[in-house]
Amino acid sequence: MEVMKAVVERRNIKQFKPDPVDRDQLMEWLQAASYAPNHRMAQPWEIVFIGPETRAKLNHKANFGDAPVVMAVLSKSASTAIDRDENLIAVSCFIQNFSLIAWEAGVGVRWTSIGWKPETHEILGVPEGYDVVGVLGVGYPAEVPQPKARTPMVEKVKYLP
Ligand SMILES: Cc1cc2nc3c(=O)[nH]c(=O)nc-3n(C[C@H](O)[C@H](O)[C@H](O)COP(=O)(O)O)c2cc1C
Repeated sequence: MEVMKAVVERRNIKQFKPDPVDRDQLMEWLQAASYAPNHRMAQPWEIVFIGPETRAKLNHKANFGDAPVVMAVLSKSASTAIDRDENLIAVSCFIQNFSLIAWEAGVGVRWTSIGWKPETHEILGVPEGYDVVGVLGVGYPAEVPQPKARTPMVEKVKYLP
């Protein structure tokens, strides 16, 4: 699949089929995603695969669209606010890489923001100073939503002399 096609056609998936995702393949996608840009090779991403017991405790309203895999993507702590922001930015690149690689294989991602809740940190045992950038449902889409229109970029570009 061309990169542009994957970028334009990827969707945030709401509901998944129960079919399992191959764990070795998943690890391969995560490894490839780790070629994301990151300042000073901080490689600030860490993954927590969430098992059924922990998933029940998270009590997500839509149960992550019944995804067969749920994983939290963490961003490491840092000693300065700028480094922390840069870690978050790098982890966002990592998640997008992962999403596009998975998409190419027909696997979708549901990105949830519950990682910002203190109770999520507690349930997942997230180390002090770490951020949870996303808790992702991963699996084969039951349905692929229609694209959401984007603002034409000409409205978001300016040129300085
Ligand atoms: C930082 C971030 C947090 C998000 N949190 C949620 C969320 O909590 N729930 C949700 O349904 N989608 C969430 N999304 C996915 C967006 O809703 C989705 O990307 C957006 O609606 C555009 O749809 P598309 O990705 O299918 O083009 C999040 C995306 C990002 C980048």
